[in-house]
Amino acid sequence: MSRVYNFSAGPAVLPEEVLREAADEMLDYQGTGMSVMEMSHRSGAFESILNEAEQDLRDLMQIPENYKILFMQGGAHLQFAAIPMNLMKNRVADYIITGQWAKKAFKEAQIYGKANAIASSEDETFSYIPDCSDLPVSPDADYVYICENNTIYGTKFHTLPNTKGKILVSDVSSCFLSEPVDVTKYGLLYGGVQKNIGPAGMAIVIIREDLITEDTLPYTPTYMKYKIHADANSLYNTPNSYCIYMCGKVFKWLKKQGGLEVMKARNEEKAAVLYDFLDSSRLFKGTVRREDRSLMNVPFVTGDKELDAKFVKEAEHAGLVNLKGHRSVGGMRASIYNAMPLEGVKALVEFMKKFEEEN
Ligand SMILES: Cc1ncc(COP(=O)(O)O)c(C=O)c1O
Repeated sequence: MSRVYNFSAGPAVLPEEVLREAADEMLDYQGTGMSVMEMSHRSGAFESILNEAEQDLRDLMQIPENYKILFMQGGAHLQFAAIPMNLMKNRVADYIITGQWAKKAFKEAQIYGKANAIASSEDETFSYIPDCSDLPVSPDADYVYICENNTIYGTKFHTLPNTKGKILVSDVSSCFLSEPVDVTKYGLLYGGVQKNIGPAGMAIVIIREDLITEDTLPYTPTYMKYKIHADANSLYNTPNSYCIYMCGKVFKWLKKQGGLEVMKARNEEKAAVLYDFLDSSRLFKGTVRREDRSLMNVPFVTGDKELDAKFVKEAEHAGLVNLKGHRSVGGMRASIYNAMPLEGVKALVEFMKKFEEEN
């Protein structure tokens, strides 16, 4: 068996220890004689998995009691619609457009109400985070929406926007659990789990209790009502039980590593190895404004499309895979989530140095 260093943006690398544990439990989960995949979601064994996953996430992120955790299927995309359907009481919301994912969420919200783009960094190919200290927030906005870490462009909000008292809603798909966050600053934060937490097929929604109401937009499908999931403790229908199990394992792994402060320090160390090299390289160049750089997704280019393609191909032969940039921007992108070891980033930089000498 040989594992590669997988720099995919998602689905992405998971901790090897977690994968081995899941493999060990595949045929017989803790004496039940069956895999978690084969188990009723109403069984005692699965309820413990779900409850522990929820509690471990609560501990890791220090989620206050007045916030609910919902495990929902449909990925982040379903939330692009569920958020306006549940929160747009005045049918007005403000969106900050820092990339394709924020833009998609914005377009989806326009179906349901008046969605305003109050800031954007599209003028410079989303290579920076706009100044959000004094935005024209709409007086009747139900919420202000951001995509906190922009997976495609490699930018991150290091300071949250001044929402002028409005609820902040954040897509944290690609920075979930990468560092500590103050949950009380958000009305709702959510993310697809397939980047930093588990296999694809689920989103985790963390929502302040008072925002969960019966008052949703007309025609909101039952499955998309937060109240349905909150009241049923994420067991309204058959959940993605295996995904919850895997996420739960990753939460335990994160706790064992020392929690989110430790992950932040490690992620900073890993990112510095790559950014320091990019800043000194003759051939490779980072594409993001320095102060807005993401710790998780690092895009870079050589400036020559053919050379970029050659790099991606040769890197793959060297066991450094999925370095091709998103199809909308080209170049390269290294996603260095929690489960990417420091050695993986060092191996990448060594390879880049060699490539630079040869080209
Ligand atoms: C920040 C962000 N939001 C949303 C999505 C879309 O997620 P999903 O495919 O789970 O709908 C992605 C990536 O896939 C993403 O990186």
